Amino acid sequence: MNIVDVLRSGRPRTERHAKALRDVRWRQRFSGEQEYLLDLAGGTTLVVHQTNIEGSTGGAVWPAAHALARYIQRNARRVGDVVDLGCGTGAAGLACAALGATRVVLTDVEEVLWLARKNAAQIPGVVVVPFDWSKASTRVDALACDLVLASECVLPQLYPLEPLADALAAILKLREGCVGLVAYEKRTYPAFDPRERFRSLLADRGVSLTVTNRDAHDPDFAADDLEIWEIRVGVETQIGDGLRVLTWGPPACRFELRKAGETRAFDVPHHPRDAIGAASWPSALATARYFLHHSSSRPPLRVLELGSGCGLAATVLSHLGHDVLATDLPDVCVVLRRATPVSVEVAPLAWGDSDSCYPSDLASQRFDLVLCSDCVYDSTAVTPLLSTLAHLWQLPNPPSALFIANEQRTALDTFLATFRKHPLLRHLRLRALPVPESYWTIDCAPPDRQPPPIALFEANNN
Ligand SMILES: C[S@@+](CC[C@H](N)C(=O)[O-])C[C@H]1O[C@@H](n2cnc3c(N)ncnc32)[C@H](O)[C@@H]1O
Repeated sequence: MNIVDVLRSGRPRTERHAKALRDVRWRQRFSGEQEYLLDLAGGTTLVVHQTNIEGSTGGAVWPAAHALARYIQRNARRVGDVVDLGCGTGAAGLACAALGATRVVLTDVEEVLWLARKNAAQIPGVVVVPFDWSKASTRVDALACDLVLASECVLPQLYPLEPLADALAAILKLREGCVGLVAYEKRTYPAFDPRERFRSLLADRGVSLTVTNRDAHDPDFAADDLEIWEIRVGVETQIGDGLRVLTWGPPACRFELRKAGETRAFDVPHHPRDAIGAASWPSALATARYFLHHSSSRPPLRVLELGSGCGLAATVLSHLGHDVLATDLPDVCVVLRRATPVSVEVAPLAWGDSDSCYPSDLASQRFDLVLCSDCVYDSTAVTPLLSTLAHLWQLPNPPSALFIANEQRTALDTFLATFRKHPLLRHLRLRALPVPESYWTIDCAPPDRQPPPIALFEANNN
């Protein structure tokens, strides 16, 4: 039975058929109706009036708007002030009002706004304002918000993308922390990819675009051809082929990893510098860059990371196919487990010379590489860290190599000098690696938050 027969019969035989049927029902259910029943999880249903508006796309609720509403419901902790650009019927913005937004402003070109006004009348406090993003004279000042929506407005054959990118960038810059969500249904444009074109237009305007993970979408309102992009002020930094830094905290650093055409965004908490272990240290970024640049020449390694902090280096190494055991103090492991993908193994390991500091099965394991990224954060770290390294190199199967990334501090000089004289470590030939300045430059960070220079070292048993 092919998919068309399945759809006609309404009787799915496989999970794939069932999903296709669910999508069609959800996406087509009310397409020809005067009322679109926009249901939210938990039983709320909005009745959104639809109609055919001559020469406009704004008379119907587009499936992306419903998917966006469900995405916001699943992911937003607090909805805040919302502006819906090109709102059409107003569906996405009205859903935000139903989800407790403090204020919702629906906007579109004047000719279609009568429909949004009719729909907005159901929910007290929703404001409807004409806003035509294609008119350079249109001012955005009144549109300051926490969340700006654009559902199905990236339609390059109908509407030029540049004015929309201008409007979104201007609105995002009105209020600190403002986030944009753009819902996009993939359509075929043989000459170019609208997402990449829009990404580059936004980047030119100082705004980054992340494709949200599919598993963050409501599974009943997700489809292969529907994407939700999160946009924020901040220029992204491309690191090697597979990693982009989208924002460099605080409160969090946002990264995007790409592999075989799949993108995956992840956030690493970035707390003030006094919270050791709870920050994305620039050394971790330099480590990530080093391995991203040299990964093709390395076979998969079993890696033990000491003092993993929030797990940026561990995440990137795991993404590159290495088998990573990330370790830190027990308290930090709680953050580490949350921040790293399941492929990264996490275990508490406190540095020092007591056996109780180490995971009980450590001696039975064989590591190709031990990684220390900004572990020499001050002079108190030197002795316990050296004890741990000495312990590892006394095991029956000592690790093959050591990689160190560190900010250049006085404590690092002490560490290096002691390491080179240490009776159990001096046979490891520790050598500095050349580090291009680009390894620690973060384009998306302001000048006053640029990290200091990072030094990299490698040592092995030969
Ligand atoms: C495909 S509809 C999407 C409607 C609604 N957001 C949804 O997802 O159901 C695109 C909307 O963009 C609006 N639009 C197009 N050009 C615009 C412009 N220059 N300024 C404001 N809105 C515009 C259209 O009027 C229409 O309502």
